[in-house]
Amino acid sequence: MRLIKIFILILLWIVVNSPFLASAQEKGPRIRFETEAHDFGKIPEDKIVEHTFKFFNDGDDVLEIKGLDPSCGCTEAFVDKKIIEPGQTGEIKVTLNPIGKRGKILKSVSVETNDSVKPEIILRLDAQVFGVLKDHAQAKDESIFSEKCKSCHVARGEGKSGKELYLADCAFCHGDNGEGKSASALNSQEYLTKHDANYIKDWIANGKDGSGMPGFSKAKGGPLDDKQVESLVAYITKWKKREKALDTSKIAGKYVVLSNLPTTHEKGHWKGKRV
Ligand code: HEC
Ligand code: HEC
Repeated sequence: MRLIKIFILILLWIVVNSPFLASAQEKGPRIRFETEAHDFGKIPEDKIVEHTFKFFNDGDDVLEIKGLDPSCGCTEAFVDKKIIEPGQTGEIKVTLNPIGKRGKILKSVSVETNDSVKPEIILRLDAQVFGVLKDHAQAKDESIFSEKCKSCHVARGEGKSGKELYLADCAFCHGDNGEGKSASALNSQEYLTKHDANYIKDWIANGKDGSGMPGFSKAKGGPLDDKQVESLVAYITKWKKREKALDTSKIAGKYVVLSNLPTTHEKGHWKGKRV
């Protein structure tokens, strides 16, 4: 009798834990993350941090990762494989470069899949960025292109152009989306209507003595060649058209929980992150 009881218990255990039974409950491809949020805690502004999100395909069909869309240029995301069989796992590695940020930040990566119920999942990243340069405020008379300052203010932009260059060299003072920070906004429609490409190019290449805006061209002792300056002019002047074309009602609905995402966040801007 006792043996039979034990046998039935073992049989029940096998049935309950059967992978076939579990997958039969989930129709189609189903993605499940171990966690959908990560808090990096306190991080210094000059170190890139990374985190790996593990996920599972709990469904009964092949799961496909269709795209990864980070909320800012400071975040990159990579997936180890695009196709995940039922019962298999995958990993999404996310990096966050906090340079140019201070205090509490919230970033995100949208993961788009062929999941039969929830085709978009937003992974959340929190961090608190602290400055490492103690005499930053006192050092303002020094050129940002000097030995002491260029590790942050020049090196990241080397070899880059357009958006990447803007984020590396200009966002410090003008904001990630040109919304203005310690320096004025460059993305307003009035500004972009009033000033043409030549005017903007002159400011970038030559700066203005006493304004706090250094000349970035090589001729003025800056780090940028002509092509790089041109690429910035092209990037900034594009903000004019972009704001008109943006359907903000859709974006507001989509990211309603993450209210401090950049407003000019552009859906479908994949860059090198398309998988
Ligand atoms: C460790 C990286 C790092 C180094 C090195 C660095 N900076 Fe900065 N700098 C930043 C960051 C980050 C910001 C944006 C600060 C913010 O958002 O409040 C910034 C902003 C600035 C600003 C504009 C904002 C303000 O506070 O007025 C100036 C001017 C500036 N830096 C000058 C310098 C000078 C001069 C040096 C060299 C003596 C230097 N920086 C070295 C990271 C750095
Ligand atoms: C260290 C801070 C700092 C950095 C870095 C910086 N700027 Fe500036 N920029 C200023 C300040 C200060 C002014 C002049 C006053 C103002 O507009 O706030 C200015 C002015 C400008 C203007 C003219 C604005 C006007 O009034 O018409 C343009 C255009 C501009 N910057 C573009 C750029 C671009 C592009 C980059 C990156 C290559 C860049 N800036 C990097 C601080 C900075």
